[in-house]
Amino acid sequence: MQRLTNKHIVLGISGGIAAYKSAELTRLLKGAGAEVRVIMTPSATEFITPLTLQALSGNPVHQHLLDAEAEAGMGHIELAKWADLVLIAPASANLMARLSSGQGDDLLTTVCLATDAPICLAPAMNQAMWRDTGTQANAENLISRGIKLFGPGVGEQACGDTGPGRMLEPEEIVMHAANQFETGNLTGKTIYITAGPTREALDPVRYISNHSSGKMGYALAEAAVEAGAKVKLISGPVNIPAPERVELIKVESAEQMLSASTESLSDCDIFIAAAAVADYRPTAVSEHKIKKGSEEIMELHLVKNPDIVATVAGSSPKPFTIGFAAETKDVLNYARGKLERKGLDLIIANDVSRTDIGFNSDENAVTVISRQDTLELPQASKRQLAVRLIELIAAQYKASK
Ligand code: C5P
Repeated sequence: MQRLTNKHIVLGISGGIAAYKSAELTRLLKGAGAEVRVIMTPSATEFITPLTLQALSGNPVHQHLLDAEAEAGMGHIELAKWADLVLIAPASANLMARLSSGQGDDLLTTVCLATDAPICLAPAMNQAMWRDTGTQANAENLISRGIKLFGPGVGEQACGDTGPGRMLEPEEIVMHAANQFETGNLTGKTIYITAGPTREALDPVRYISNHSSGKMGYALAEAAVEAGAKVKLISGPVNIPAPERVELIKVESAEQMLSASTESLSDCDIFIAAAAVADYRPTAVSEHKIKKGSEEIMELHLVKNPDIVATVAGSSPKPFTIGFAAETKDVLNYARGKLERKGLDLIIANDVSRTDIGFNSDENAVTVISRQDTLELPQASKRQLAVRLIELIAAQYKASK
């Protein structure tokens, strides 16, 4: 759901029993990275308290059109401008009628009139009210004006009836809301992303590896899919699920990661190396488990692994190639050195000496370095950063063409 990351959602709640589900909806929207400001109609407050929505959204709930104090803060015009999407769930028959006739008789309908953002409704009402020709005419009118309707679903209703008019479940509404933001700025492009650690076997039961969680690479894969790209995710062993719609290729060693990365590379437009590849591997893998001997010290002989991203950057035709530089000191200088040495187009540098961000954490802060520019992206969740990074990578890729 990265399309919702940092998106400004005005969630309108009108009066109906389904309003209790708006609490969960708010929680899910926030969980998907959106900023949520709630507007409640007076009758919505009969079903659920503004305090609940305030606590879940982390923002004061907006209720009144002519509230001098609220207007001094974020008034109806500011709210209308702030919104990337106005989502009304539940949308009652009355709310649909008022919107359909272009009324602005309360805060929610006024914001709808004033906004340039897309407006989406999740209708919720008794099945007979939904079927009513007046409601149907209003629905058609709203759709003809570009307003989207999510649902309603069909099923058992709070009043005991069965039929169309149920509000969609919050998860479905969030999915539809996210679909409004498909950026498409990588449509038709193929991206390969390496992620996670590699494991370099010593014998059938032991290996050398590192603590990479794969979170950054997986977040980038999700953001790239949501930007419309076809994504091949070449991943070392990790404990997180692959995002939907990516082609996952599981590998263990650096050598396997290299062959998966270079296979059909001519298809690849953008290559992002987010994997923490082991620099060395044992010179030989013992066929049987290495037994403990009498010696106190054991020597391991290691040989350098191939540099995957440098190999890709040296290939012809070469994809637009991006590497990561995880450093503990002199971060930017080391990163610039790697950009040159490995022949990269961009390098994303981060300071792994900090314990609050990086390797196993959910957050990161990075500096994106190209031959011309340096851009700092402040600390944020890896998901939020991934969305920003994919936007930047898409823009730089296009500029390079
Ligand atoms: O040289 P260093 O490991 O610091 O470089 C990090 C960058 O190079 C990362 O993008 C990493 O995925 C990539 N890399 C690679 N193959 C290696 C080592 C690093 O692709 N053998």
